[in-house]
Amino acid sequence: MTSPESEPKKSFPTTIIAVAFLLVVALLTCVPYLVSIALAGDPVTGDASPIFGVTVPVNYKQWELIAPAEEAAPLDELRAVVGNQVAIDAYQDGKLSFPNGTILVKRAWKRAQSPDFASATIPGAATTVQVMVKDSRKYAATGGWGFGRFINGKPVDEAQHRTCFACHEARARGHDYVFTRLAP
Ligand code: HEC
Repeated sequence: MTSPESEPKKSFPTTIIAVAFLLVVALLTCVPYLVSIALAGDPVTGDASPIFGVTVPVNYKQWELIAPAEEAAPLDELRAVVGNQVAIDAYQDGKLSFPNGTILVKRAWKRAQSPDFASATIPGAATTVQVMVKDSRKYAATGGWGFGRFINGKPVDEAQHRTCFACHEARARGHDYVFTRLAP
């Protein structure tokens, strides 16, 4: 038989245990999300480039512009170099050695004639996406940069990836192997 006065004595610890249990469950549910948020710098997608294992960052189309560029014939392309937040901060602080975690993406399109205005040029089909990732330890042999060149989301062959650093090293060594300067 349960006496009426024993009820509150019983329910007090039970409530504490229940609340504690709920807290633990809530914590355990949140921790993986918090960890993944903390670790996820820039999520990536698709296949990795040969040699470097660089992938296309998922959200690069939302990244800030560093500068546009144009490539004469035969490629005849419009280009835009964009960067993640680490890159933009480094540019704005005038840091010459880009910090680890910097990602630069060069977008490129065929030059197309505007259907609406004779002298206007607009982006046509996207051609390549080129990526440079700074990780001074992983890519120590190539100035701290990993390279990736992608067509329709697929990395191009290893031979092409062997050319990347050579040209960037020969022409842009004094600027941490990066050609593009922040557009005024
Ligand atoms: C023959 C020289 C040359 C080669 C080879 C080359 N690049 Fe570049 N790269 C450039 C130039 C010049 C720019 C400046 C932007 C422009 O004019 O398109 C550039 C810009 C870039 C940028 C933007 C950041 C910056 O340095 O301005 C990325 C990213 C990039 N290249 C990736 C690559 C990858 C990946 C490869 C190899 C698959 C590669 N590049 C091979 C000359 C080269």
